[in-house]
Amino acid sequence: MRNAIKLCITLCLVFLPAVWATPDNETLDYDTHELAFIRSLGPWPPVSKKDESNRFSQQEDAIELGRQLFFDRRLSLNNTSSCADCHQPDLAFQDGVALNTALAPLHRNTTSLLNLANRPWYGWGGEHDSLWSQSIRPMLATAEMHTDLSALQKVLSQDSFFQCAFQQTTGLNLADLTQQDLLVTIGKLLASYQETIQSGKSRFDLFRDQLVDAENTSPSQKNAILTAEEQVGLKIFIGEGRCTFCHSGAHFSNGEFGDIGVSFFTANGIDKGRYDGIKALRTDPYSLLGRYNDATKNSNDAKEQGNTETIPHNALRTSHLQLLHRNWGEFKVPSLRNVGQTAPYMHNGSISTLMDTVDFYSELDEERLHADGEKILRPLHLTPIEKDSLQAFLLSLSGPIHAAQEKPSLFSQCR
Ligand code: HEC
Ligand code: HEC
Repeated sequence: MRNAIKLCITLCLVFLPAVWATPDNETLDYDTHELAFIRSLGPWPPVSKKDESNRFSQQEDAIELGRQLFFDRRLSLNNTSSCADCHQPDLAFQDGVALNTALAPLHRNTTSLLNLANRPWYGWGGEHDSLWSQSIRPMLATAEMHTDLSALQKVLSQDSFFQCAFQQTTGLNLADLTQQDLLVTIGKLLASYQETIQSGKSRFDLFRDQLVDAENTSPSQKNAILTAEEQVGLKIFIGEGRCTFCHSGAHFSNGEFGDIGVSFFTANGIDKGRYDGIKALRTDPYSLLGRYNDATKNSNDAKEQGNTETIPHNALRTSHLQLLHRNWGEFKVPSLRNVGQTAPYMHNGSISTLMDTVDFYSELDEERLHADGEKILRPLHLTPIEKDSLQAFLLSLSGPIHAAQEKPSLFSQCR
């Protein structure tokens, strides 16, 4: 009994001051290391930049026509599905299921389409190096839309409104295009719309901005935008969790690939992830190395250096790719923005809730890390309170989702 009272007194002495000390949300203390990490996770949103490989990028009528195509089931075999059926605006532009079963069962989880402008690679294995070439993929994939291109060309050419809007936007006559040109043009229009799908400032961003401002002015400890619990989660995220090794920068992703030990077995074989992604990219006629890249070749810099090489500057990353053994079983490091809205998780949708992803990192099975030299991760063995805090922090990364809205006036001459 006496021991119990002693224990109680000790616990109260340890925990009560902590509770009393944070009546409002106070800013915890951060050392210079932590402040640098927090600063590096922004600013948000990023400056919008035109995609030079896509001549329609940021063009108003292309965005509107791309938006219409995104919701158009005619792009698929027998009008089975539109892009928006799998990338639903109400579900952060994903589908909420582990694996979709469109025309045939898929073996990868549908990604959300937030903040995709100007990313280095697309797809879980980085099979594509531009948003427009990634947008062609579902049309060609037999398990997804399996588009019959000649039927599509016919149907769209016979739609006088679409035909006119297409002409106005692209300067091209639909009926005259080769199937490849049709595919690429549709991909580029779809990409122009998708570039507008963005998430705005989250509570984390407001907190970060406040902290960065406070570094320049006199720091105020009061009224922090994140709760103490969320800040404890943030400290784990940038500290012992080592999450920012991969989920770094304003996107909470380095844009590259990693192996965290999620199974690569699928219902019908093995998903080699980045390894096959690089192979696919090398033979893809629609990669930035191909003739559909709209960026000007022979940049002035290259010319000055006497370089007659015809690789456009935006394709250098692709041309320098090397296939390494370590790429086997690596998958794209997903952005964690709005991660609270994009369950289920991982490339194969194998983890259903955000708390389960936290558990996954906490109990990580090191035996399953198969890529060479993946020495960053180790099981964190978090306490229940730490797990709640990490989850609370991840939930603070959601901002309001915006996308271009309908602009019927743009094609008024076509009606
Ligand atoms: C049947 C469901 C389905 C349909 C229909 C579909 N997608 Fe997807 N989408 C997926 C899946 C699954 C992935 C992940 C594919 C992968 O990594 O191999 C994906 C990935 C993507 C990505 C990559 C995002 C990233 O973070 O790298 C983009 C962009 C995309 N889809 C755009 C589209 C567009 C545009 C359309 C319509 C032309 C479309 N999708 C139609 C299921 C679908
Ligand atoms: C070595 C790089 C690396 C580190 C370190 C890392 N991650 Fe990841 N993370 C990934 C990769 C790669 C995936 C996707 C894996 C897959 O699908 O097979 C992922 C997936 C996730 C997902 C699922 C997101 C989604 O949309 O499916 C969450 C949540 C996540 N990580 C959070 C964290 C947290 C929290 C930490 C720190 C405790 C962390 N990660 C550390 C690379 C990393």
